[in-house]
Parts: sequence; structure tokens; C-alpha cells
Amino acid sequence: MTMNQLTRTLLVVGLGVGVSGVVSGCRGDREDAPPRQFFPDLDDSPKWKPQSKSDFYSDSRTMRKPVVGTVAFSTSSFVPAEAWADHWKQKRTDLLKEDREFYEGITGYDKDGKPVFVTKIPSSVVVDDALIRRGQERFNIYCSACHGYLGDAKGTVSALYNPVPASFYDPTFADPKNVRSQDGWIFHTIRWGKPGGGADGKMNMPAYGHAVNERDAWAITAYVRALGASRQGTIEDVPEAMRDQLLKKRSAISTPGPGVASTGGVK
Ligand code: HEC
Repeated sequence: MTMNQLTRTLLVVGLGVGVSGVVSGCRGDREDAPPRQFFPDLDDSPKWKPQSKSDFYSDSRTMRKPVVGTVAFSTSSFVPAEAWADHWKQKRTDLLKEDREFYEGITGYDKDGKPVFVTKIPSSVVVDDALIRRGQERFNIYCSACHGYLGDAKGTVSALYNPVPASFYDPTFADPKNVRSQDGWIFHTIRWGKPGGGADGKMNMPAYGHAVNERDAWAITAYVRALGASRQGTIEDVPEAMRDQLLKKRSAISTPGPGVASTGGVK
């Protein structure tokens, strides 16, 4: 490299540093004047804040309503009838929540605007052994602390809880004149809790909708009914082939400890 070339190289480098200094120098420094913007549309892209007013739309709403007939995603005719698509179909149904009886436990509202609860678990729910067992498992996780494993309101927390949690053996649960006899009410209580009714908005029972989805809430409802019915049963209600086994189990539990008594020995 000759002396001349070196000078030229240094000049070019120096110029480059200088230019980039001018460009970047205006960023980051304390300065009262507004910053230079070389691509203003990238720095300040136009946007509307939620709930703000728009001069563009005739109804002045920045928050646009979906076009009439918009569905959550896809449509059932686009989703193929293959097993892998079942999950997505279910997801869409869960988003739309069109089936009020299943998703809300109500048939609608009466003339005073009060919800009308379904009396029985909707027919779209298959009540079988698997469902009740699922209900038992979920109940033991989410409800037993207050309502007790047996649903007799003798849970760990219940002694300290005000009001006292409901016992599912209370006759009101079987009284057709009482809302507690309606399965939709049980479902509703699980998902949305029970308000205390006071102006402070406190809940007598907290809502479990965040943890228990609709399917599980119906499963728990079925199990709550099973618990309620369990004490009215006699040995004659048990299929003959299973009576011996059950009686043996009962005699094995001579002095029920809290764990044994609370699950009734049922696994
Ligand atoms: C933190 C304690 C607590 C938990 C956990 C709890 N509950 Fe309750 N529950 C209560 C209390 C307290 C009441 C009584 C409310 C009242 O008397 O107003 C109650 C009442 C009820 C009632 C009767 C509502 C009525 O008054 O008609 C049902 C049904 C019920 N619970 C079901 C459940 C189920 C099912 C679960 C599990 C998903 C559950 N609860 C979890 C505390 C709890």
C-alpha cells in the first residue's frame, strides 16, 4: 500500500465514521428538540387505541365488530371428518358455546331475567361409569377441601369456613321445589360460584370455572348426585355379584380413620 492509497483509505474510513456519527449521534443524547426521524412511518405507525374514537368509520368506533356470521375459526364443512380434526372441531364448539344447556346449565331466562336451570344433566353428556369416576377425581381435587371427600361438608377447611359449606346429604338437594334439585344449579355453582348477595360482592363459595371446564363440571355434578344418593342406598341396590366384596370391604374398615372414611374405601 503506497502512502497515497493509505491516505485515501483513511479519508474514506474517516468520512464513514463521520457520517454514521451524524446519523446515530442524534439518537440517545439528551435533547429538547424532537428526534430526527429518517423513516417516520416505521417509528410512528398509525394505530388506534382500544375504546378510542375514530374519524374514519361512520359509527366512530375504533373497535370493529366482526362481520355478521363470523365464526371463531374455520367452519365445520372445512374441517375434514378425520380423527385428527376432532380436537379442532371441539375447540371451535367450545369457543362458540352455542349450546346453552351444556355450556351454561340453563335453558334461558324467565320474564324477570333470572336464569332457568336445566333440571337434568343435558343429554349431550353421556353419564356413565367413566364420567362419574372423572367427576370423583376432579371433586377430590377441587371440592373435597371444603365439602369433604364424602360431600358431608366435613372437609379440612370447612370447620374454619364461613358460611359452612353445603352438605350434599341435605334434603334440599332432593327437594324438587328447591333449586338445589336442579343439575344446572350445581353446574352453575361449580363454574361461577355462589355470591354472598351483599353489596361488597363477596362470594360465599368461590368460582371454579378457571380450573374446571364444562365437561368436568358436568362430571362433578354427576358425582355430587352420586354422593347424595349413596346414603339412601341399601345393600339390595348393589348388583348381587358385588355384594360380598362390598361387605368384606366394610368389615375391613373396622375403625375408619379420616383417610379411609373420607374416600369410603373407594379407589
Ligand atoms: C373454599 C371452599 C369451597 C370449595 C373448594 C368448594 N365449595 Fe362449594 N360451597 C362452599 C360454601 C361455603 C358453600 C355454602 C354457600 C352458602 O351457603 O351460601 C358451598 C355451597 C355449594 C353448593 C350449594 C349451593 C347452594 O347453596 O345451593 C354446591 C352444589 C357446591 N358448593 C358444590 C361445590 C363443588 C362441586 C365444588 C368443587 C368444584 C365446590 N363446591 C368447592 C365452599 C366451597
